[in-house]
Amino acid sequence: MIKSLRGMKEILPPQNKKYEHFIEVASSIAKKYGFEFIETPILEETALYIRSVGDSSDIVGKEMYSFIDKGKNDVSLRPEGTAGVVRSFIQQKYDKAGQVKRFFYYGPMFRYERPQKGRFRQFHQFGCESFGEDSYIEDINIILMMGDIFDKLNIEYTIKLNSLGCDECTPPYRKKLVKFLDTNIEEICDDCKTRRDTNPIRTLDCKNPNCQSLYVNAPKITTNLCQNCDSDFEKIKKILNSMNIKYEVDSNLVRGLDYYNKSAFEFISEGLAIAGGGRYDKLTSMLGGKDTPAIGFAIGIERIIELIEIPEDKKDGYYIGTMCEDLDELLLTLAHKKRKENKVHLNVNPKSLKATLKSADKLGFKYCVFIGEDEVKDNKIWIKDLQEKTELLINQKDF
Ligand code: HAM
Repeated sequence: MIKSLRGMKEILPPQNKKYEHFIEVASSIAKKYGFEFIETPILEETALYIRSVGDSSDIVGKEMYSFIDKGKNDVSLRPEGTAGVVRSFIQQKYDKAGQVKRFFYYGPMFRYERPQKGRFRQFHQFGCESFGEDSYIEDINIILMMGDIFDKLNIEYTIKLNSLGCDECTPPYRKKLVKFLDTNIEEICDDCKTRRDTNPIRTLDCKNPNCQSLYVNAPKITTNLCQNCDSDFEKIKKILNSMNIKYEVDSNLVRGLDYYNKSAFEFISEGLAIAGGGRYDKLTSMLGGKDTPAIGFAIGIERIIELIEIPEDKKDGYYIGTMCEDLDELLLTLAHKKRKENKVHLNVNPKSLKATLKSADKLGFKYCVFIGEDEVKDNKIWIKDLQEKTELLINQKDF
């Protein structure tokens, strides 16, 4: 038997309802914040991810599903959504128009990771990307929107917040950090030794317990910000405080993708990141577009599905059964009429009336319709309201 590939997550019953519910909640909140739906291709040129997510990131370094297609193009399944949205934003020349544009999207992403709890090779994200807003107010809007989505789903979370600085403050900070790493070079892990050369800030994210205990004493980006980044970060914190939004500043929060600057954040629930994002003001120009400030986030949908409970569906619709033969035309006509407004299930092969009632109830139908020989003779149908426990005989033409 052919099975699905390891780590490739399918959305199946009963989780499918949670997926749909989540998409409904997240999309409707995103629309309230001015975001509109878009869908970009799942397959893009590999170069797009190398230039955006960054070749020093784990994603590009070891997790991409890349291959040469029949036209000899080097292509990759998208490991995340931001790069494709920015590519599309530039291709549609929205960057030249210079207007504010906000997009949301959802769908599968692919990373060749070691599958474990909450970590898959094909997983699903809901993401939002906002272009053209330079002000820290958009950073706060985004954090509020993420909070609104999780509050609506009754998910408890903590917010981790950092500022990664800009081109002015990051280079001198990086130098300080490298100096710190060099004084501890004998003790840090081999990965961090490599990161020291490729992207030293990523060392702060190292999961090795020994490195983590060393980096408690590393210089902090938050105390090395330039005046503009520091002032924006202070304003964000002040407003979140005044709005009673709880967060923790985590100056070791560096994110696994290389395109971020200034605000970076993650929402954590039950020990896992359920969402992450931040500003990426340089990405549009890095991909050949006009300099455009931008900020966004993505939510890991599989992790949300694990956390939410949704109310059972209300009973509705018609379950129609008959043991009489040659009623195909009548059944299909009745079902087609009712399906304009309601859900309808046809059972042309029930064992008995009792079995029909039982199936209708189990499948969540409000009404069970049964057509026996007497009903056929009199052009009637028998209906039982399974919720109210009432029954009725009506003319077929009145159904
Ligand atoms: P990310 O932090 O790599 O950011 O992913 C966002 C979320 O996707 C994570 O917080 C997690 O919930 C989920 N996730 C990531 N990898 C996996 C996996 N292997 N299995 C299951 N869930 C996973 C991004 O992808 C950025 N594009 C977010 C962003 C948008 N930044 C700006 N705009």
